[in-house]
Amino acid sequence: MSLYTWNQRILIVDDERDIAQGYKEIICPAQKTEVLSSRSKRVSEQTELDKFSFHVDLAYSVEETLKLVKKSIENGQPYSLGFFDVLLGPGKDGIELVKEIFAIDPSIYAVFVTAYHDRSVDAIRTYLGENSLERWDYLNKPVNDGEILQKARNYNSLWNLKKEREQKDNELNNLRRRILDSERSSSIAAISRSVTHEFGNILMQIMGKADISRKKSADDMRRALEIILEASERANKILDRFKTASHADVTEEKKHIYIHEIIEKCLELMEFQIKKTNTKISKGRMELVKVPMNSTTFLQVLLNLFINAIHAMGDAGEINIELSKDGESAIIVIRDNGPGVSEKIFDQVLVPFFTTKGSSGSGLGLAICKEIIEVEHGGDLILKNISPHGLEVTIKLPLVDPLEEA
Ligand SMILES: Nc1ncnc2c1ncn2[C@@H]1O[C@H](COP(=O)(O)OP(=O)(O)OP(=O)(O)O)[C@@H](O)[C@H]1O
Ligand SMILES: [Mg+2]
Repeated sequence: MSLYTWNQRILIVDDERDIAQGYKEIICPAQKTEVLSSRSKRVSEQTELDKFSFHVDLAYSVEETLKLVKKSIENGQPYSLGFFDVLLGPGKDGIELVKEIFAIDPSIYAVFVTAYHDRSVDAIRTYLGENSLERWDYLNKPVNDGEILQKARNYNSLWNLKKEREQKDNELNNLRRRILDSERSSSIAAISRSVTHEFGNILMQIMGKADISRKKSADDMRRALEIILEASERANKILDRFKTASHADVTEEKKHIYIHEIIEKCLELMEFQIKKTNTKISKGRMELVKVPMNSTTFLQVLLNLFINAIHAMGDAGEINIELSKDGESAIIVIRDNGPGVSEKIFDQVLVPFFTTKGSSGSGLGLAICKEIIEVEHGGDLILKNISPHGLEVTIKLPLVDPLEEA
């Protein structure tokens, strides 16, 4: 929080110069009549007496007063309060003048210096309106020095305490806004990175499929086009998913689907990358298991795992797939014979944005998999290094949708 600068500017309005001068000498005795430039010191540096070392301007007519008030607002050096004689000669009186000043300066306090023959307090109240009730006070003539000085100190302090509070509130609000903005932009950045990540995968599959089927028969090409269309539809669904990501209660309805069908779809989509890297795909036990799933996101998981495995193994690696049922879960195991994950980083690979691939990886693949399996499907995603080398990823999917059951 920044320190508040105490405002010490006071205005005295009286058509009788001697009286105005007299008030000034009461309010700032040391200054006498010389004009001082505005004093401003940090609150922390100010002693209590310093706070009451005022800068006073004098005005002897309505016009002069309005000019000074307008200038003070324009220069950002407003008066905290003014003392206003009620009878100011011909033309407007002090109360009419203050009404005009309140319209120009929303914060200034006014202290009327009245005589019994001037307007009554109730007349002033009615004229200035109930909204301005707290902004003015009065002194009955003849006034003594202590009264003038005390009103100056009171209203000046009040003005400053109010402004200090406003400054603190503004700073607090700005701080809150900045925190909210940065939270918003970091989640927007996270979402856009996720979208980019998943779209990158899909584009890679589309391009691979298009490339590989160029030299094939018309039938094969038609099949490839269907796959490409499907991949594009998946991209659309992913977009929808991100659009609704902010609504926690919006979850896509799950359908009971055979897991092996999605595995086959994944292999088909990965055909280009598999062939290009000479990756061997081997299948162990493949049971027929149906589970309630969102096939779009589950396919995303498998694709991410296959892509990771191929990245890790390089050329001529082997991916082994198994599918079985165990009690209340379907179990999918995907093993590769790459180097596995070193113990040093094992705990970090599921953390969003953790990558060992430099700028070519976003570090979101496994984090997205974990979210889809654990949050969306109520399952488990378990990583394990295997011997002699390689990574084994086990996915457990409940045979009954835990959300539906609930
Ligand atoms: N099969 C694997 N074998 C060895 N290390 C892996 C394997 N899968 C993931 N990793 C490690 O885990 C890290 C995080 O993987 P994740 O899929 O989250 O991000 P990424 O692959 O680095 O980036 P992106 O998925 O955006 O391409 C990888 O950088 C890699 O170090
Ligand atoms: Mg990855």
